[in-house]
Parts: sequence; structure tokens; C-alpha cells
Amino acid sequence: MLLVLGRRVLLSFVKRVIPQDPVLLSNPILQDFRTIKFRVIHSSTVFASATRQNTDTMPERRPFVRLPTDVYPVNYGLCLKPDLIDFTFEGKLEAIVKVNLATNQIVMNCADIDIITASFVPEGGEGEEINATGFNYQNEDEKVTLSFPSALQKGSGTLKIDFVGELNDKMKGFYRSKYATPTGEIRYAAVTQFEATDARRAFPCWDEPAIKATFDISLIVPKDRVALSNMNVIDRKPHPEDDSLLEVKFATTPIMSTYLVAFVIGEYDFVEGQSSDGVTVRVYTPTGKAEQGKFALEVAVKTLPFYNEYFNVPYPLPKIDLIAIADFAAGAMENWGLVTYRETALLIDPKNSCSSSRQWVALVVGHELAHQWFGNLVTMEWWTHLWLNEGFASWIEYLCVDHCFPDYDIWTQFVSADYTRALDLDALDNSHPIEVNVGHPSEVDEIFDAISYSKGASVIRMLHNYIGDKDFRKGMHSYLLKFQHKNAATEDLWDCLEQASGKPIALVMSSWTKQMGFPIIVVDQEQQGDDRILKISQKKFCASGPHNGEDCPNWMVPISICTGEDPGCTKLKVLLDSPETTITINNVSPDQWVKINPGTVGFYRIQYSSGMLESLLPGIRDLTLLPVDRLGLQNDLFSLSRAGMISTVEVLKLMEAFVNEPNYTVWSDLSCNLGVLSSLLSHTDFHEEIQEFIRDLFTPIGLKLGWECKQGEGEPPGAGGHLDALLRGLVLGKLGKAGHKPTLEEARRRFKDHVEGKQILSADLRSPVYLTVLKHGDSATLDTMLKLHKQADMQEEKNRIERVLGAISAPDLIQKVLTFALSEDVRPQDTVSVIGGVAGSSKHGRKAAWKFVKDNWEELHNRYQGGFLISRLIKLSVDGFAIDKMAAEVKSFFESHHAPAAERTVQQCCENILLNAAWLKRDADDIHQYLLKRKAPPV
Ligand code: BES
Ligand code: ZN
Repeated sequence: MLLVLGRRVLLSFVKRVIPQDPVLLSNPILQDFRTIKFRVIHSSTVFASATRQNTDTMPERRPFVRLPTDVYPVNYGLCLKPDLIDFTFEGKLEAIVKVNLATNQIVMNCADIDIITASFVPEGGEGEEINATGFNYQNEDEKVTLSFPSALQKGSGTLKIDFVGELNDKMKGFYRSKYATPTGEIRYAAVTQFEATDARRAFPCWDEPAIKATFDISLIVPKDRVALSNMNVIDRKPHPEDDSLLEVKFATTPIMSTYLVAFVIGEYDFVEGQSSDGVTVRVYTPTGKAEQGKFALEVAVKTLPFYNEYFNVPYPLPKIDLIAIADFAAGAMENWGLVTYRETALLIDPKNSCSSSRQWVALVVGHELAHQWFGNLVTMEWWTHLWLNEGFASWIEYLCVDHCFPDYDIWTQFVSADYTRALDLDALDNSHPIEVNVGHPSEVDEIFDAISYSKGASVIRMLHNYIGDKDFRKGMHSYLLKFQHKNAATEDLWDCLEQASGKPIALVMSSWTKQMGFPIIVVDQEQQGDDRILKISQKKFCASGPHNGEDCPNWMVPISICTGEDPGCTKLKVLLDSPETTITINNVSPDQWVKINPGTVGFYRIQYSSGMLESLLPGIRDLTLLPVDRLGLQNDLFSLSRAGMISTVEVLKLMEAFVNEPNYTVWSDLSCNLGVLSSLLSHTDFHEEIQEFIRDLFTPIGLKLGWECKQGEGEPPGAGGHLDALLRGLVLGKLGKAGHKPTLEEARRRFKDHVEGKQILSADLRSPVYLTVLKHGDSATLDTMLKLHKQADMQEEKNRIERVLGAISAPDLIQKVLTFALSEDVRPQDTVSVIGGVAGSSKHGRKAAWKFVKDNWEELHNRYQGGFLISRLIKLSVDGFAIDKMAAEVKSFFESHHAPAAERTVQQCCENILLNAAWLKRDADDIHQYLLKRKAPPV
């Protein structure tokens, strides 16, 4: 779990913790991909797929070329022997391959591996073995060409390669992960992370998702270590040359892509269960912590049959293991049959884990298990279709959690967590279409972003709503059956859903996946007798205001409409397929409000006429609008204010209407937007006034909730109170941070008791208390916090502390936190959130964090090797600036310090900085006046 300032953040990208907003920086250095040959070319519908422009002066990369298919693998016989002391490994590959076309060369992917020998034995060739005479490494392309003295003839054969590699410390490929034994001894496990393109760092292979083969894996490991891989163990015998080693052999896998292969060698305990459909499920934990695997086990055991039934396709392997890995870059990885997780995404301690951790574990387990079907059984043909994997899993994880934990009201949380984040990012000029042509690994890394995940999930949610659950499931079932053990592209899914529903799915969906952005729906109304006439039009919404140009794109927009008579029920559905239309709703009395997009399902923003908006506002105060719609309305208006379409003062007035709000998610979204505003106003000299506004808004709900949890709150599922526990943490943290005196005093009192061991803080109160005391604390507070960090046995507690350290105010202490971020005490993947916490906490923190990133760029870049964590770090460090010249500074820094996987992120950040600056210039005075007037006694 990642919580940044009280808001959950997916690990591969960043949510709105700081203002996001636009300017165009033309620095796309990637080549034009029109030259790429795709193995499968699908006829596209009316919308052309966008490619990256090539407009600037940066050096061009050679065009990316996919592997030739004249030789391809059928089965990999792979034996690996890791050395956990020297951090090296030896490997032996015996791959059965098919030669399609006689050739004397084999081209494979290979990176950071030394090949010792390679040979080819033709099938039925009576012992004839052809030794390769040359290994030509093309390092930049991560390929090797093996040359043979004579042509390999069409037919089958065995390719044998002996090689060696390093167990690296970069959290990718075959790498080492550090852990301490219960007695404090430091040891290492050997683990893998292959997605997207790092299987090639563990063994030479055809590392493309469409080149599927079976795998027979053996591991040679110290006999006191656990050895796991995708399949169950079929043989375990002492190594003939060394009796301290065991050779562990695993069953043959189904045909699968290389990025889903995994192995783990280390010391672990486990808990085991059986799902009702007969699959053995184990959750592996660090030794001595098996109990902490129980919650994830319960979720997994419920989830497998849920998907089995939903897809009507059984899970195809005999077992599934879920394992917590100490050093882990992503949140979790769906390797087939051996899913790897960060410790914080899998382990739950009944006493020391907070409610949001439980919810996060449930979502992540739901997400990765969905991939076992959607991704693993049916795999995207190329990374361009990555969104199919990630968008779908990011949608269905909510369906699964809603099934397992109905009291989480998880779909409302979807809107705040994924839907609004996707809208924010996709409103930038530097966004990209969901389907995007990618080639080189750094481009692939780049699309593990909120567009693939959150926009992907949001448009699937809209599609599900448009089709209806019954036909959606029918289509999903036929898609999975038709493409199981094969690969598919986006159009293949549309075909199946079109067949199942009889609706024009490809046409509707292409408008959402092939062009970037989304529309703003502009609505006005007129009463004619008993009828309400709506005038509806669409324009592209941009973070800098609506698109007013000539060639404005259009979307096929499923629009639903409800009225005040029954706010939860859709009265009318239309498909808007033109720039504007007029709709008549019969039998609506003049006193009734009309609302577009009930449930906030359609992926668009709405601009109501002032009359329509006026009529909706009482529904916020009297709670007759659904929570998700109260949230959606507030979020739309906030976004319109950032785009300069309405005054921010209007939004502040609207926020005050939420004073009676009872719903956690509505508060959470509002609180996040206020955080954005507060960060923006930290550039002014009236920052204190917005803190006062926050205190006033949150005080009534704070008083109502109090500090003590009600009976049953925060306890395991079914006990209720989950959302109350989340709300209390949110509100107390917000009040404490904003300097609300009674909250600060109580937080200090409770913190003291906690530290002295008199009264341990409940897990749900720790984040808000830590945040409050640090924000208003001194060097003694920081030292106490660092001591708590050292003593913490659970990674969840360490992360909780790491994320709030940046709240400390004194400049010298901020520096101390930044130094701590790069110390041995912080896991490599967590450094990013410590630095991000500093940048997001204060004006001084923002400057100090950016300077720190610049000063330590080499180390940081080297540490993350250009993976997605570097994008996250950049975004967290610079997105909050609101001065034009900072955009220029950031641009220029990254022109001389390349981060290929973060190019688009850098452009988005620069765009955001300029948008912030424009927003501040435009609205700061009015906001200041409003905040002053609000406090003035009435005349
Ligand atoms: N397939 C991804 C893991 C991944 C992410 C691999 C980035 C390579 C690069 C996995 O299914 C995933 O999406 N993990 C998420 C957590 C999930 C609950 C959204 C993550 O790591 O953030
Ligand atoms: Zn995923």
C-alpha cells in the first residue's frame, strides 16, 4: 500500500497529491513508429491510432524491430543455480525450437548475461551437434545473435546454451532481495520480476508476449531454502556434486509468455488453504510471520471461485502461491501460479494493520488473481494492448472486493481513486491514447501509467454499464474460450462483446481507446409543458479549458439521465454520436432537477447551465443525491475551476455545502482537492487562511466522530465500521495537519502515551497522529519517529512513518529526512515516497526535495535503472511547482539528464507546473478576498 498524505496511491504511478495542470513542452524524442512491423495488423475502425510525434532536436533512436520468427521456441528446459553469497547464477537452457526457414543465425533477447557455449542439435540428427561460432550481443537492443557455421534446416531441434549472470540489486530480472532473520542476521533471497521485458536478464529467450512456449524449470538451491516456481514440484533430489544443494524440478507449465515466468529461492513460512474449486492456495510470508498471511489467504480462497464463476472458465493450474518479497519495485506481479507482492500488499497483522491496508491487500489480491485469466491465459498480442491486461484487472479487482467485502462501498472509492485520477491526467495535452504504439523497452515501461490502469478501468466500467452484466459476462466468456493459451488484441475483445450484446462495441470503444482525452458535456434545459428538453453538446475537455478549435474530436458517449424523483434510477439512456443533440424527457415536473451521468459512470466531465447546477446543489446539503454523484459534482467543478472555466471561489462555496456530509469517500475526494489547493496557495502569503478554511470545514465532522472507535470498527470484514475507521483517520489527519488546536493537543497526548508504552495507538490512528505531531514537531519528535521506525517489525509500520516524515517543518530537519530517504534503513522502493512526502508537505520541502533529486540524480537513476519508479519520483518531486520558470528548469534538467522511461512524465509535469502558475495568477486574489470576507463579521 502506498498512502501519500492520507490518499492511497497505486505503486506504479502517482495520484493527485499535488496540483496537476498543463503546458506544451515539445520534447518527444522517440522515433516515429510508422516503420514498425506488427505481427498482427488489425483493421482499425474510424479512429486512427496515435503515434508519438517526432518534433524536437533530441537524438533519434534506431527504429525498434521485433524478433524474427524464422526460429521460435516450443519448450524451454531451464536449469538455474543461484549463488546467494556471491550474487551470481549459472544457467543451462535446452530449448526445443522450430526452424521455419533455414538459417545460420538465431536472434534472441539477452541482457546482462554472458553466454559460455551455445549449440544446436537437429531432431533425429543422430547426435550431430552444431556449435555456435559467434555470439554477437546487440546491447542497446537487448538482443544476441548466435551464428552457426552451417544453416539450421527447417524442422525441430534443441538449442543448448550455457550462461552466467549476476543476481542484481535493481529489482528486475533475476535479483537479490535483502532480509533479516529473526535474530537479525542479514541474508538474501533470489527472486524474479520479468514484466515487462526483463526475463531476458535471467536467461536468453524470445521475450515477447506473443511468443508463448511451455517451460520445464529446475532450480539448484541450498537444501535449507524454499524454492518456488510457477508450477508444483515434481522431483526433489540431492545435487550429485554437492550434498548441501538440492535439485528441485517443477511440472511443465502450460504454454505461456516469458514475462510471466517466476522463481523464488529464500526462507519463508506459509499458510495453506484450498479453494472450493480444488486449487491449493498458499501464502508465503517471512519466517515467523505465517499468521500475517491469513487475511490474504481468505481473500484468495474466496476470489478464485468468484472468477471461476464469473468467467465460467476454471483456473488452469493445480496450485497458486502468493509470496511477500522484501525488495520489490511494483506493488505486485501476476506471475502464473506464483504471484509476488510487496510485503505491504500481502501481509496483515490483526493488531498492527490499519483498515486501509486490509482494503489494499484485498484489492491487490483481486487484481493479480484476475490476471491469472485475463493476461496469463489470454495474453495481449503486443504491449500496445497492455491496457487490456491492466485496465481490465483494475476494474474487476473492485468487482471482486465488492463481492468479498460489501461493507467497503468500494465502487464509490473507485470513482475517487481511479476515475478522477484518469480524468485529471487525460486532460493534459501530454496525455496519450489508451492504445499506444510502443516498441523499445523504455516505451513499454512508460505506459504502466494511470491511462492504462485508471482510464482503462474507467472505460471498461462505462462499457459494462452500457452492455449490462449479463451480456458482458457472455462476451467475456467467449473471449476467454476463443483465445485461451493464445494472444489477443483490443479488437478481439470488442468482437466478442459485440457478438454477445448486438451493440456497436468496436465503434463506441475505439473512440475512447484510440484517441486521447475525453469530452466535456455541456448541458442546458428548457421546460415545455410536462416535458424537459435538454440541449447536449460535447467538446474535448483540456486542463487549460475546453477545446475550441476547428477539428475538435468527437466521442461516442453513452449518456444516462436521472431526475430528482428517483436519483438512483436512470430515466433515459442515449448514445451521443455527434457534436450536439436535443433530448426530450417526458413527464418531468418543473420543480424537479435533472442530472446527467447518475452513478458517475460515463468517462466525461459535465458543465451544467447555471440554472441546472443551482437546482442540483440542495441535493448535496440534504443528501438526496447519491454519494458518488455528490463526489462527482464536486470533482467536476473543482476541475472546471483549475481549467479557468469557473472561479475557484465558486468551488470553495460549494465545498462549504458539504458540512453535513457523512460519507468517507466523498470527504476523501474533497480533502484531496483541498490538499491540491492548499499546496497551490503555499506559493502565496495567505496560506494560513486556507488552513483556517480547512479547519472550519472539518471541525463538525471531527467532533462527531471523536477519537474513540465505535465497537467493531476497523476489525476484520463483517464486523462493520470499516468506512468509519477510514473517515476518522482522514478527518483527524486533516485537522491535525491544518493546525486545529484540540486535535493537535490530543494527538500529542496520545503520541506520548504510545511512545512510553502506556497506551499503544490503534493502527487506524497512527498515520493521523504521526502526521500531526511531526507537522508541528521539533527535532526531538523526528528522532522519536526515527526510533519508532527502527524498532518497527512490520514493513507497513515502517512505510507509515516514512510517508509522513516529510511533514516536519524546520529546514534542517527536512534535510535530515531527505538524507534518511537514501539510507540503508529505507527499502530501495520506498525512497520515492519519503522524498515525495517532503515535496508534498510544504513550500520549503518542495524546493528541498527537487534540489535533493538533482544533487543525487545519478544514484537515484542508477538505483531504479529507468523503471517506472523514476517516473513516480519525478512526478512527486516537481508536480507541485506553480512558477513558470520552474517548468523551464525541469525541462532543461531532463534534457541533460536522460530518463527515457520518464519522458512523457516530464512533459506532463512541465505542463502541470505552467497550469498551476496560470491558475494562481488567475484566481489567487479572488480566493484571498473570499477567505478574508468569510471571516469578517456580517455588516
Ligand atoms: N502487472 C503488474 C505489475 C507491473 C507493474 C509490472 C509495472 C511491471 C511494471 C501488476 O498486475 C500490477 O498492476 N500491479 C499494481 C498493483 C495493482 C493492484 C494496481 C502495481 O504494481 O502498482
Ligand atoms: Zn496488473
